[in-house]
Amino acid sequence: MHLLSIEDLSDAQIATILDEGERWFAYNRQPRRNDRRLDGLTIVNAFFENSTRTLLSFEIAANRLGAQVVTMQVAHSSIKKGETLEDTARTLNAMRPDALVIRHAKSGAPHDISAIMDCPVVNAGDGIGEHPTQALLDAATIRQHFGRIGGLKIAICGDIKHSRVARSNAKLLGRLGADLRFVGPPSLMPPELGGGSIDAAVDGANVVMMLRVQRERLEDDLGDAPGEFLSRYGLTEARFAKAAPDAVIMHPGPINRGVEIEGPLADHAERSLIVRQVEMGVAVRMAVLDLLTATRRG
Ligand code: CP
Repeated sequence: MHLLSIEDLSDAQIATILDEGERWFAYNRQPRRNDRRLDGLTIVNAFFENSTRTLLSFEIAANRLGAQVVTMQVAHSSIKKGETLEDTARTLNAMRPDALVIRHAKSGAPHDISAIMDCPVVNAGDGIGEHPTQALLDAATIRQHFGRIGGLKIAICGDIKHSRVARSNAKLLGRLGADLRFVGPPSLMPPELGGGSIDAAVDGANVVMMLRVQRERLEDDLGDAPGEFLSRYGLTEARFAKAAPDAVIMHPGPINRGVEIEGPLADHAERSLIVRQVEMGVAVRMAVLDLLTATRRG
């Protein structure tokens, strides 16, 4: 079994990952952690795009469960000598890993690689495609905070067009019964995901999820003066005041402070779940690696 898209998961598997993610979250806060259920397995991380949260949390998740973890040094690999991604995958496969976690700038690259690999492949973000484990950790964080997802009003705001996080969350949070609103600058909105003003989207929302402006994927610079994006499309204190009284702020990170969100809102002690999302990321990735390698462990 691979995890390339939220669509690869059954409702029962999603429920298991969310339940187990919450359990691992509590486990990770214990001083002694001795569950070594992935002992004897080798997990390979191959990140062809930069990452802090996803790469480190997959490394920690696999290590914490007793696996051997190898992270490919892409900058020093034979990719730099012109080796194709497919030949790199054949090379990795010959080393018999038990799971491959891959991030790549090309949408669909993990799908192509999964056809070559004999082990489970996890999509850790592919271009503007999907980022399924980010959506799973977002769902687990929301459910842990509110005790439910169904019926919550969730505004997902910003650079929707380039966001694999938005695409995976549209599939997952929609399936779990959330009332989703997508909003961003017209040039950064895919028509199928709606539109409208950020003020309307945030009004009464229980969750306001801001997305990073992905300048590395923009064909044209937004051309905005400093602070203009924030005032027109970003999360300001005045805007957030219109959200529901119990509203929380989320962001997958990395954050562009002062661009899509005011810095103090990102750090808000009661309202921001951004650091909680990172903590949940390790827990949910433990649940994902456990699920995907279960058949290999017999
Ligand atoms: N949310 C996320 O994917 O962050 P990184 O790019 O740091 O992994």
